[in-house]
Amino acid sequence: MTVVAGLLLRSTGWLAAGLLLVTLVVSALSRHVGARPRWLKARRAVGIGTALAALGHASVAWLEYLNTDGWEVLRAVPWLRSGALALVVLLALLATSFQPRHPRFTIHAWSVLHRLVHAAVLLVAHHLLMAPFVPRSWVLAWGAGVGLTYAMRIRIAPRP
Ligand code: HEM
Repeated sequence: MTVVAGLLLRSTGWLAAGLLLVTLVVSALSRHVGARPRWLKARRAVGIGTALAALGHASVAWLEYLNTDGWEVLRAVPWLRSGALALVVLLALLATSFQPRHPRFTIHAWSVLHRLVHAAVLLVAHHLLMAPFVPRSWVLAWGAGVGLTYAMRIRIAPRP
């Protein structure tokens, strides 16, 4: 892998992981202020950014890291599988990130689906913990940030 590709892989990966963390912060705060349109808009924008950054990161990884036998490697390596699954979840959330228009796709179904963001967080945590060259201190800082946002959710009373 070239130095530029390595930098791209690292920067897009951390952009995606950072935006995922911001999504958690915005959604914890929006529980506090209530479902205000401005907060919902912000949460949607950050969610879209997360999915696009993750897609960019996965594309660089695919072209530069996995290239020829990509599917084989993806199947064989657990931390790559968790990254790929996290990407699938983030893309599903991206596809449904706008207000439901179809009458059968209710707000309830939409909000249940969007709870999958917590599965994406777990999958990304696994991806980062198991990847061989990721700086441990960065993973620790990201994990601490995620832990804090969940602590915030617990402290903030749930919406009635
Ligand atoms: C198909 C999906 C994915 C693939 C193939 C993939 C692949 C990779 C690879 C090859 C690395 C380098 C590991 C190393 O140098 O040890 C990496 C690192 C990383 N990935 Fe992914 N990834 C995927 C999904 C994701 C997603 C969804 C996120 C976050 C939302 C993410 C965040 C990161 C981060 C933060 C790093 C650490 C970069 C560094 O410091 O070197 N990845 N990923």
